Amino acid sequence: MTVIPNFVVFEGGDGSGKSTQLRLLAQRFESQPDLPRLFPTFEPTDSSIGRLIRSALRQDPPLLPETVARLFAADRNEHLYRQGGILSRCGKGELVVCERYTLSSLIYQGITCGKDFSWKLNAGFPLPEALIFFALDPRLACRRIAARHTKDIYENLPFQAQVQERYHEALPRCAEAGVRVAVVDASAPEGEVAGALWRELKKLPILKKA
Ligand code: TYD
Repeated sequence: MTVIPNFVVFEGGDGSGKSTQLRLLAQRFESQPDLPRLFPTFEPTDSSIGRLIRSALRQDPPLLPETVARLFAADRNEHLYRQGGILSRCGKGELVVCERYTLSSLIYQGITCGKDFSWKLNAGFPLPEALIFFALDPRLACRRIAARHTKDIYENLPFQAQVQERYHEALPRCAEAGVRVAVVDASAPEGEVAGALWRELKKLPILKKA
């Protein structure tokens, strides 16, 4: 399976702090001009397909789980291969850090549509060089989510507990496939998580000199 150098993915359940850490990472890159260029990004994207997905996750309009799974794959295809997309940026020596990628589909749509269905839709996508997993007790994550205004169809404790369990099953297989996998304790204070994350990222060839 092809691995894309300079491509890093953040994975974890809802409410595990991935967005906050990506924001902090972007600040670090802004304040250190000697670092390579960072392209922070996320899935579902902010394209028209991504926006349709986000609406569907709020049941507006409700779509079949298989339709949602196909939309995630379509959104990802554009995100990766379009002009100025992930592949071309990584190829130009930028560090691309993406919140969620194929593993989210294998886990979330694996639950809603079955593992085979989501695997078939995602098996052809290349792998990231590194995957950082944000480990957090789903009960704590759900307490964090409760503070948000809009909740999507996956944001409930029974679903998130299943998500967490499946991530833990899947991580060793990602490592076997050639992805550098690291787990950070997402229950730690923001600054500590950022420090742990940075120590992992600095192991990448693109940041070795940083
Ligand atoms: P996101 O807005 O990133 O939520 P959060 O910030 O809470 O992580 O993602 C929206 C939801 O989409 C989230 O519940 C996870 C889900 N998702 C999938 O189910 N499959 C996928 O392939 C991706 C990328 C996300």
